Amino acid sequence: MENRPDWTDEQWYAEDLTSVAGVERLRFFPQVVASASGAILTTPEGREVIDLSASWTATGIGHAHPDVVAAAERALRAAPGGSVLSGTHPDAVLLARALCERVQVVAPVGERRAYLGHAGTDANDVALRAARHVTGRPGIVAFEGGYHGGLGASQSVSGIHISGGAPADPDLTLIPYPDLYRPWQGSADTLLADTLAQVEEALAGGRLAAVIVEPIQSDGGVLVPPEGFLAGLRDATSRHGTLLIVDEVKVGLGRTGHFLAHHAQGVVPDLVTLGKALGNGLPISALVGSAAALDEPAASALMTTIGNPVSCAAALAVLELLDDGALAAAAARLGETATDLLEAHAASDAPGAAWIGQVRGRGLSLGIELVVPGTQKPADDIAAKTAFAGWRGGVVAYPVRGNIIEITPPLTITPEQLRTGLDRLMAALDAAVEGAVSDADLAPFSGW
Ligand SMILES: Cc1ncc(COP(=O)(O)O)c(C=O)c1O
Repeated sequence: MENRPDWTDEQWYAEDLTSVAGVERLRFFPQVVASASGAILTTPEGREVIDLSASWTATGIGHAHPDVVAAAERALRAAPGGSVLSGTHPDAVLLARALCERVQVVAPVGERRAYLGHAGTDANDVALRAARHVTGRPGIVAFEGGYHGGLGASQSVSGIHISGGAPADPDLTLIPYPDLYRPWQGSADTLLADTLAQVEEALAGGRLAAVIVEPIQSDGGVLVPPEGFLAGLRDATSRHGTLLIVDEVKVGLGRTGHFLAHHAQGVVPDLVTLGKALGNGLPISALVGSAAALDEPAASALMTTIGNPVSCAAALAVLELLDDGALAAAAARLGETATDLLEAHAASDAPGAAWIGQVRGRGLSLGIELVVPGTQKPADDIAAKTAFAGWRGGVVAYPVRGNIIEITPPLTITPEQLRTGLDRLMAALDAAVEGAVSDADLAPFSGW
């Protein structure tokens, strides 16, 4: 710290723009954070901001959680080696065992394997290729609005279009994710039946290796699917010898009130991917599946620092902290508090109230859909301006799918911090509606 330049927040941000590559920026406001603790971010100038994003859920149990810091420090000092590539170490073995025990997949425990990776992107990439390898088929079904990664195969099966990114996979079939706010087929029941019929049609050709799905579609708008959606996918894939890959990278690990979000729908997938919160800020991801899918071909998914001791130790600490279910229970409870507060704002006579079309989600995976009052027309501009005004007002929350403000704070946020953060966010919405953010303010921040 001592040798760092004594720059203002603005100077640090300006320096970032001239040194960090644009291809990895997804910016909504000029955020600079020098340190963080729990749900509080501190800028270089010392301004404190409430984090309602948890860095897109990556710091799921709170910034600088003491147990995770202690585990990572211990592993860093012991430094037993770089990875699991050409040797192993106890933290990696214990983590892989812990994942195989905790993440239920069709294969029984002794026949399960855990791939340890760096990010959700590579975990999904390896899941897709494992499914193709084990079935000998090329086809993949994914969902419009889905997001599975920012590079390679994971990006090419993502339904969210990223300009300049990987082209769509030639063997991909995209199906609309059931959206209960805008059902294209009357009721929830007919919506579900129609979605499953489209999946069935894709499966009928016998060419499908896998269906990959998010249990709650997050970047696609925080869509909670109708009851029976995952069970329907499980049933259909099983009948056709196709694998079901459940992507828990964003909503897994306690956030929805369950250890994994798909537990709410009682299904057992073939492959499950984890990331983000697994390392609580350190880069690590995992894929759990059968030995048949993940042991072969040997040495075919390699990165030099996979399974590195520091990330593994952090992840093990995260899993242990989740074990007694208290954090998941807190997420469920706090999610209800947040929903009540947001719905109360929507019902008030505040300037922004009429722009709230719906508040939805599970636990601490929530979305506020902003629409032009009296319509369901997406209010992307107001969402972008709300996020921008939020940063100015001391809260971080990002828009997804343009007009939905996503709320995914650390599971350890206190009720008071949550209340204050949401108050600031609703004040930002009111300010945005009243014109406090100009188009010129927003111009440098293209977001997605
Ligand atoms: C559901 C889901 N899967 C995969 C990913 C990719 O994870 P990462 O950005 O860590 O590569 C993301 C990232 O947002 C995600 O939301």
